[in-house]
Amino acid sequence: MRQYGNFTYVLERVKCYDQMFKDAEVFMRWITRVPLEKDEILRNICSVYVGADENEIARDFDDFVAPLIDEKVILAGETAEEIESQEISFSYDVENPKTMDTHYIKPEDMPEGPIPQDVLEKHFSEHPTIFDLQMDITQACTERCIHCYIPEYNPVFLPLAQIKKVIDEFREQGGIGLTLSGGECMMHPDFDEIVRYARTKDLIVGILSNLTLCTEEKIKVLQEAEATIQVSLYSMNPETHDAITKRPGSFAATKTAIEKLRKAQIPCRISCPTMKPNYKDYLDVLAYARLLKMDAQTDFIIMGKMDCDTSNLGCRLNLAETRHILEDIIYKSLPVNNEYFDPAKKEQLETNEEWAARKVCGACVSSVCLDATGYYYPCPAFAGVNLGSCYEHDLKWIWNESPETKRIRAVCGKDFPKCVSCPDRNYCSVCMCRNYNETGDIFKPAQHFCDVAKLNHEIVDEAQAKRISAMKG
Ligand SMILES: C[S@@+](CC[C@H](N)C(=O)[O-])C[C@H]1O[C@@H](n2cnc3c(N)ncnc32)[C@H](O)[C@@H]1O
Ligand code: SF4
Ligand code: SF4
Repeated sequence: MRQYGNFTYVLERVKCYDQMFKDAEVFMRWITRVPLEKDEILRNICSVYVGADENEIARDFDDFVAPLIDEKVILAGETAEEIESQEISFSYDVENPKTMDTHYIKPEDMPEGPIPQDVLEKHFSEHPTIFDLQMDITQACTERCIHCYIPEYNPVFLPLAQIKKVIDEFREQGGIGLTLSGGECMMHPDFDEIVRYARTKDLIVGILSNLTLCTEEKIKVLQEAEATIQVSLYSMNPETHDAITKRPGSFAATKTAIEKLRKAQIPCRISCPTMKPNYKDYLDVLAYARLLKMDAQTDFIIMGKMDCDTSNLGCRLNLAETRHILEDIIYKSLPVNNEYFDPAKKEQLETNEEWAARKVCGACVSSVCLDATGYYYPCPAFAGVNLGSCYEHDLKWIWNESPETKRIRAVCGKDFPKCVSCPDRNYCSVCMCRNYNETGDIFKPAQHFCDVAKLNHEIVDEAQAKRISAMKG
């Protein structure tokens, strides 16, 4: 639960519940992890609203919490034991496909009536808020992946004291999601303590890892911290996976660890970036993930390295290979594509004017990253913009005062001259980082991105046409 100005944000990760409430701070102030007697909560609330009718406050409070109790976001009971017995934790045995993503600021379906989107947008544009922080706690890695955007695997480790200081600052700013990455974050000698510390600060801890160092002890730490994991698995063929990571035995280590996480009921999602050696393997990885009741995703646009070296792009798919993977995704891997290919969707696409006026992503708008040397930067892999050092500035300064943060936050669609009126834009992920790493200019896309977006557009049009003719038939 976080307070942002007049808004109280409630997120229940396991049930994927999230809501934003307005002017609810006093009602929520005494809803804590330690149960309190309802009478005491009401007495506390009445002490704030001096002179107000106490019965009316009690009725309003009941009305307010009832839907949250129904949803089991707030647990209520006659005894502490009764409350504890209702606590839910993530389990693969329960149908719960939405394990990882948090969806911030979703005003529709509010129990007490929605907060209009423009009110929320106004508040958060006037008060930019860091919801997510990614910390790359080391540059060191156990693998040497052919596509990796990291230029050097120096054994640099962000010191524990500095990490704790930044976590405190992040929490102070209202932060919610902390992602630990690298390099390979499990190489950090204080990994366990970092995870535990973040959890004591009531943060949702996410881990990006190849899991090659995931011991039983680490599994216990992850379990206790209710952490969520994203692991990279490139193929179900050991030789192909190991050829990508350039580490013999890495497939076996990663697969074994995934299965241990599964057994320990730790939420895990598989990331399977596709490139020349493995672009025909994605469906097998997806089938494996589904067997374990996990999710798997691919990314078929490998980006250049953080220092603008493009030597890693030799493994990137050409357009024919990209068509193969796109068709796999569109026709085979998504079981329910009907909505996506509904021709009516076209009517709902954003206009050029709308796109020109809006921000293109969450970098410096709702999220920021910190690298192992202590520099903040806008988003993973986007080292071309330095927002300031955690050794010189606190996160509040980085977020509110850093000139570079302000510059990136101000970026809107209109700043991308080639994209503003592009017919393929709705089939493209316009990205400052991808642009910068490949062309050296955050506003200038590489031709490959445009070619892939055009192809994606064509395939979606083909799929829609097939759907229409199937409907007619
Ligand atoms: C940089 S790694 C760090 C975490 C961990 N070492 C791992 O490999 O999962 C995070 C993710 O970025 C992906 N990745 C690395 N280089 C990439 C690139 N050039 N383009 C797109 N994704 C990349 C990796 O495959 C991995 O899924
Ligand atoms: S992708 Fe991950 S595992 Fe592979 S070299 Fe890069 S940081 Fe290491
Ligand atoms: S296809 Fe190219 S020009 Fe069009 S939106 Fe994407 S990056 Fe911009």
